Amino acid sequence: MTANSDELDRRDVLKLIAGGLGLAALGGSAACAHTVRAASVEPRRHSGPAPERFFAAPPMDTVRIGFVGVGGMGSAHVRNLIRIDGCVIKAVGDIVPEKVTRMQDLVVEAGFPRPTGYSRGPWDFVRMCDEEDLDLVYNATPWEWHVPICLAAMRNGKHAATEVPATYTVEDCWALVEHAETYDKHCVMMENCTYGRMEMMAFNMVRQGVFGEIVHGEGGYLHDLRSVKFSLEGEGLWRRAHSMQRNGNLYPTHGLGPLANCMDINRGDRFASLVSMSSPSRGLQLYAREHFPEGSPQRRERYVLGDVNMSLIRTANGRTICVSHDTNLPRPYSRVHLVQGTRGLFQGYPDRVYIEGRSKADEWEPAETYLAEFDHPLWKQMEEKSRGAGHGGMDYLEDYRLIKCLREGLPTDINVYDAVSLSVVTPLSEWSVANGSRPVEFPDFTRGRWKTWPRLGIITA
Ligand SMILES: NC(=O)c1ccc[n+]([C@@H]2O[C@H](COP(=O)([O-])OP(=O)(O)OC[C@H]3O[C@@H](n4cnc5c(N)ncnc54)[C@H](O)[C@@H]3O)[C@@H](O)[C@H]2O)c1
Repeated sequence: MTANSDELDRRDVLKLIAGGLGLAALGGSAACAHTVRAASVEPRRHSGPAPERFFAAPPMDTVRIGFVGVGGMGSAHVRNLIRIDGCVIKAVGDIVPEKVTRMQDLVVEAGFPRPTGYSRGPWDFVRMCDEEDLDLVYNATPWEWHVPICLAAMRNGKHAATEVPATYTVEDCWALVEHAETYDKHCVMMENCTYGRMEMMAFNMVRQGVFGEIVHGEGGYLHDLRSVKFSLEGEGLWRRAHSMQRNGNLYPTHGLGPLANCMDINRGDRFASLVSMSSPSRGLQLYAREHFPEGSPQRRERYVLGDVNMSLIRTANGRTICVSHDTNLPRPYSRVHLVQGTRGLFQGYPDRVYIEGRSKADEWEPAETYLAEFDHPLWKQMEEKSRGAGHGGMDYLEDYRLIKCLREGLPTDINVYDAVSLSVVTPLSEWSVANGSRPVEFPDFTRGRWKTWPRLGIITA
C-alpha cells in the first residue's frame, strides 16, 4: 500500500505540470508566476459501483495526525486539535520552517511529545506520508495542494482531511473518489460552515418539518478579500493567482454545504445541473491601481475573475439553489444562507425566520428567539468547549466531530462524495461561464447510490 515516494513525487509533478499548474505552486510562493488549470468538464467513467453503505474505518483509541500547511487556518486547527481528547499531532509540515517550529513548540507546550517537522520543500508531505505512522493526514494548504496531499495520504494508508474546496477540477474529484474507494480511506472535506450555530439550528428546524418541504436555497461567499488577495503574506501569496486564471465560483462550499444538508444531497437528492454567469471583472484592477505605484508588478497583472458570480443549481428532485461568489468588491461579509420551504424560511445576514401561522403575517422574526427551542443538540453540548475557537466556535466543532468519528469507527459527517459534489461547482461554473452560461450536468459521483444512502441525522458530541 505504501507508494514509492520518488515515483509519487515525479508522477505528481509531471501530472501537475501537464495540467498547467505553474512554478509558483511548485515552489510555494510568488503568485505572479502562478498558472492554474483551466476548467474542463470532460466526463470520466468510474469503473465500479459506489459502496452500498457509507465507509467507516475500524475504531481507534488515539488518532495520530500529520498536519500539512500551518498558516492561518492550519494553525487554528492545530490549536483546536491539541484541546480535543483522543488525538495527537505526530508530524507537522510547512514550506516555511519557522511555522513548523512554532507549531512544534505549541504542541509541546500542550504537554505532548514534539512532533516531527517536515519543511524540506513543497513535496515534503510525501516523505511524511511515507515515513510516519499516522492515522490521518490533515491539510490546510493553498488549493492547488489539496489533492496531491490527500492522494499521497490515502496511497500510504492514511485517512485524509482537507480544507475547502477539496479540489477544483472534475478529474481531481474522481481521483479523490477512486482513491478513497480503492484504499478504503476517509477523504473528508472540512466544511466548517455546516457546523455554524445558525446553520445547524436551521438544519434542525428543517428536520423537524418547521419550514415544510424544502424547495429552494441560496448561499454564497460574499467577502471583500481585496486586501487579503493583495497581501504580501498568507493568502496573498497564492489566492490572487486564481483570479488571474479562472472565472467562475472559486469558493462554493461555505454557501452550499449547509444547504446540501438541508436538501439531503447525496442522501435522497443530488445536484443535477448548473448554469453560471459572472459579472465584469473590475474590483481587483481598481484596487491595484489605487494601492500600488505605477510600474509595480501588481499593476501589470490581468484579472479574469468576474467580481460577482451567480450559479443556479437544479437538483434531481427539482429543488433550486442559487450560489454566489463575490470577493473583489467593497461589501460587508455574508454567506446568505436562505433555506425555503412550503411553510416558511430561514435567512441569514441578519439571521431571521418566517414561519406561516407562527410569525406575524409578512414580518421577519430574529432567529435568536428560536434558539431556545431549536438550537442544535451538538451546539448545546459543545458551546462551552468551543468558546474562543475560530469562526465563532464552529471550527472546533468540525475538528471535534472528525476525531470522534474516527475514534468510534463511524462514517464521517462529510464524506468524499460530499467533498467532490460541493467542490465540483467550481469547474462546472467555469465551464458554463466560458460557454455562454450553457447548462452543464453534474457528474454522479455516487453512481446512483444517492437514492438509497441514509440522510444525515442529528449528530451529537
Ligand atoms: N474553512 C474556512 O473558514 C477557511 C478559512 C481560511 C482558509 N481556508 C482554507 O484553508 C486553506 C489555507 O488557507 P490559509 O488562509 O490558512 O492560507 P495561508 O496561506 O495562511 O496558509 C497556507 C499554508 O500552507 C503552506 N504551504 C504552501 N504550500 C505548501 C506545501 N506544498 N506543503 C506544505 N505547506 C505548504 C504555506 O506556507 C502556509 O503556511 C485554503 O484551502 C483555504 O481555502 C478555509
